[in-house]
Amino acid sequence: MLIKRNPNGIDLPFPSEITPREVVEGRRAFLARAAATAVAGTSLWEMLQREALAQGAPAQKLAAARNAALSTTENPTSFQDATHYNNFYEFGTDKSDPAENAHTLRTRPWTVQIDGEVKKPVTLDIDRLVKLAPLEERIYRLRCVEGWSMVIPWIGYSLSNLIKQVEPTGNAKYVQFISLADRAQMPGVRGRVIDWPYSEGLRMDEAMHPLALLTVGMYGQVLANQNGAPVRVIVPWKYGFKSAKSIVRIRFLREQPKTSWNLLAPEEYGFYSNVNPNVDHPRWSQATERRIGEGGLFTPKRKTLMFNGYNDVASLYTGMDLKKFF
Ligand code: MTE
Repeated sequence: MLIKRNPNGIDLPFPSEITPREVVEGRRAFLARAAATAVAGTSLWEMLQREALAQGAPAQKLAAARNAALSTTENPTSFQDATHYNNFYEFGTDKSDPAENAHTLRTRPWTVQIDGEVKKPVTLDIDRLVKLAPLEERIYRLRCVEGWSMVIPWIGYSLSNLIKQVEPTGNAKYVQFISLADRAQMPGVRGRVIDWPYSEGLRMDEAMHPLALLTVGMYGQVLANQNGAPVRVIVPWKYGFKSAKSIVRIRFLREQPKTSWNLLAPEEYGFYSNVNPNVDHPRWSQATERRIGEGGLFTPKRKTLMFNGYNDVASLYTGMDLKKFF
């Protein structure tokens, strides 16, 4: 703030230069957060960038051609809803917690370690990973096991592009996705809701299916932190919890990996977790769903579709009892 010397020799600010109280308080809060994150090892520059984002500065744009063949024509959920109604337990268990807390996530520098049963293990810098294949926009339905759904224009490329690069061996039967678990950046990780790090997995043929999307953006820009920046997977025919966020490691395995929700409550969350209106979760019916942002309390729910409507994947499960392998 500029201070002018007035004729009496007393230093006073001009009224127009007096900073409004809420701005001062905002700055005080900012300085307190800056001090806290300095301790956590964040530079002031990173802190300023993140504050700018939190205050609604435009996020980095990401160009991608729409893949119409793999996109639904349903209306996308609003950006506001998609970024403010989230599950990301590393930032808290309430739906509003990730939007409030995820500004502390540092998404650069970021690497993804890819190892296990592959001929070419590699640790990829995120900026190389983003450029590994042409980016596509795909508008997918996302159905959460809790009974709600959204329609989101994601940006990324088929996970199979990355898998082919590392050349899995014949022993690779499963892929595991491991999320970042950093207590300094993620307040939720200080609690023991989940046995961190968040872990999810797919069978190899599921991971190779063209619909499985390695995702780096949404709504024409880079992923919002609360949606799993800088890289996550989206597996649209499975319940949302299979789509791990903020991935730091991808492992190729002989055996089915242990996955977070299955470890926590095996009778509630199976490894497969394909969207299936005929197999109820012990606490929630899976027959219908509420589309976030659609209508009010009395709006009829939508019927949930087998495989979330992605019938193409049915052949992956031929001969399997999907009530047993839920
Ligand atoms: N990934 C991590 N690392 N941590 C989480 O808590 N929640 C899952 C999934 N991926 C979760 C996660 C759940 S339950 C859902 S429904 C989706 O992310 C939500 O994704 P969205 O917030 O982008 O809609």
